[in-house]
Amino acid sequence: MKTPIGTDLALAAEWLRQGETVAIPTETVYGLAANALSARAVARIFAVKNRPHFDPLIVHFSMEARIEEYLVLRHAASFERLYERFCPGPLSFIFPKKARIPDLVSAGHPSVAIRFPAHPLAQALLAQLDFPLAAPSANLFGRVSPTTAAHVAEQLGGKIPYILDGGPCSVGLESTIIDLSGPELAVLRLGGLALEELEEALGQSIGRVQTSSSRPQAPGMLSAHYSPGIPVLLGESPPPGKEKDCGALRFCKPLASLDPARQRILSPSGDLQEAAQHFFEALRSFDPRDTAFILAERFPDHGLGRAINDRLLRASVSRESQD
Ligand code: TXA
Ligand code: MG
Repeated sequence: MKTPIGTDLALAAEWLRQGETVAIPTETVYGLAANALSARAVARIFAVKNRPHFDPLIVHFSMEARIEEYLVLRHAASFERLYERFCPGPLSFIFPKKARIPDLVSAGHPSVAIRFPAHPLAQALLAQLDFPLAAPSANLFGRVSPTTAAHVAEQLGGKIPYILDGGPCSVGLESTIIDLSGPELAVLRLGGLALEELEEALGQSIGRVQTSSSRPQAPGMLSAHYSPGIPVLLGESPPPGKEKDCGALRFCKPLASLDPARQRILSPSGDLQEAAQHFFEALRSFDPRDTAFILAERFPDHGLGRAINDRLLRASVSRESQD
């Protein structure tokens, strides 16, 4: 069966009401959505993605939803501020969960991640449904996140009944995750909302920021992520003699020593937001038949550059641990 791709909201809603999974556009990356209140529907997500059950899902809400039915608000003043400023948008929040959210969604954790996606089709779909949508990125587990409907079809085509097409994602990186469930605020994932913007809105710096580099003792956990299927090396120059089968992922300037056709320049004008938008697509664009490895430059370590570096590090760790 070939999975249809289209813009039929009513059809997407109908599949979801029947307990099926549907790929949906969000501004960050495409999500693989199912009824977040149905453990059976959510189990389909894990099966389709081949995702381990210990990895919890993010629940997506309409801006009209009454979220207090599903979770316990903590740090309410901080949440209000962030909600007013950034929602709908690329920011997820973690709160203690109530019983309406099945344990499968949170992988047994007493907390749940939620977010209000900004993509108009995602909000329009949520407004038609009387349940929120659990949705991880719509890729096979451990692989690169999809930023177009065609990317979703490459990995999940034939396994799901419908892909709702909302065009290319405008942000291009998964949401930033802030944990409001504990005594202190913590960032659990750098993503499509820059840490500086988050801290500026809160009027405080966040002491606990979890990045891949801060957890080198757990390479196994890092290794499974963002793998483009070709080894990724971090650096500025290919190992001597390896120029011919090297692809390069660059921020704004090409490498003089490499064929321009083997290079992807994410933003010639040096705009990190533009680079983020094209990042996953560029990672996917190398052909494994003539590319032995991808040489990726380190991005400026601020704004969305930090989130890009985090993903590059994870993509490259996978190579080291597989060697
Ligand atoms: O932008 C996004 O967030 C995309 C789009 C589709 O919304 N979704 C996404 O989901 O990136 P996913 O499944 O690829 O990432 C979910 C991650 C988990 O791997 C975990 O790190 C964190 O969110 N997470 C979810 N629930 C959590 C919880 N209760 N406690 C701690 N971390 C949690
Ligand atoms: Mg993912």
